[in-house]
Amino acid sequence: MSDISEAPKGLFLTLEGGEGTGKSSLSSTLSAKLIELGLDVTICREPGGTVLGERLRNALFNNADRYESEKTFSSPDPRTELLVFSAARSQLITEVIRPALDLGKIVICDRYVDSTFAYQHYGRGLSYELIDEAVNLTISGLMPSITFLLDLDPREGLRRHGIEDQVNLFGDSERMGGNNYLDFESLDFHNRVRSGYLEMAAKDQERWMVLDANLSPSELTRLAFDRMALYLRSNNIAHFKL
Ligand code: TYD
Repeated sequence: MSDISEAPKGLFLTLEGGEGTGKSSLSSTLSAKLIELGLDVTICREPGGTVLGERLRNALFNNADRYESEKTFSSPDPRTELLVFSAARSQLITEVIRPALDLGKIVICDRYVDSTFAYQHYGRGLSYELIDEAVNLTISGLMPSITFLLDLDPREGLRRHGIEDQVNLFGDSERMGGNNYLDFESLDFHNRVRSGYLEMAAKDQERWMVLDANLSPSELTRLAFDRMALYLRSNNIAHFKL
């Protein structure tokens, strides 16, 4: 296991945002651009990215599917959610993120600890201290150098996920579309997640870059790339040749 006090040789980037904000698209386009330049890139997503992590993801989300078919729409207990996301993350760090960073790669992760603060603290209302404890237990100090927040009105994001006419938004009783039960939380919940993200980003502008998710994919890729290049220049990191 790597020494946790050792600074990673690679570069760790994360993508954050609500539902349907285009994180996975940006992850693909940005990594494609970096690979084109000859850089070594590892992409991953949370929850998941390892065999165990994908099983945990299925345990959480397929369980919700069952509820959905029974039309009860119950969400897992918030602490259960916190622990499952944390367990999946712990495995992802050990199996994928740390080893890639130790090899000097660029790691782009679609969601990381900020998702837990946004969803389980701002969204669900678990205390900041409790989330902080779970996060510290899991990450051993490993934080991203840059976090891109794709910011979008949740109504638009949920529309993109194909659930525009659904119960929480417009009062219909049928639930169709959506990726998982979290999509079907109230609009209030999604708005809290969004403002939580913006609050975190405002507090640490050195790490965060807020991107307007309405921009075109090529514009978003360019902005994210430029920010990365600026970070490398201002930190005198010369071993990534851009
Ligand atoms: P996913 O289908 O991957 O959606 P997305 O494309 O929006 O990332 O679902 C992941 C869901 O899990 C998403 O609704 C956010 C939620 N989540 C948390 O609530 N806490 C967490 O710590 C993480 C990593 C994700």
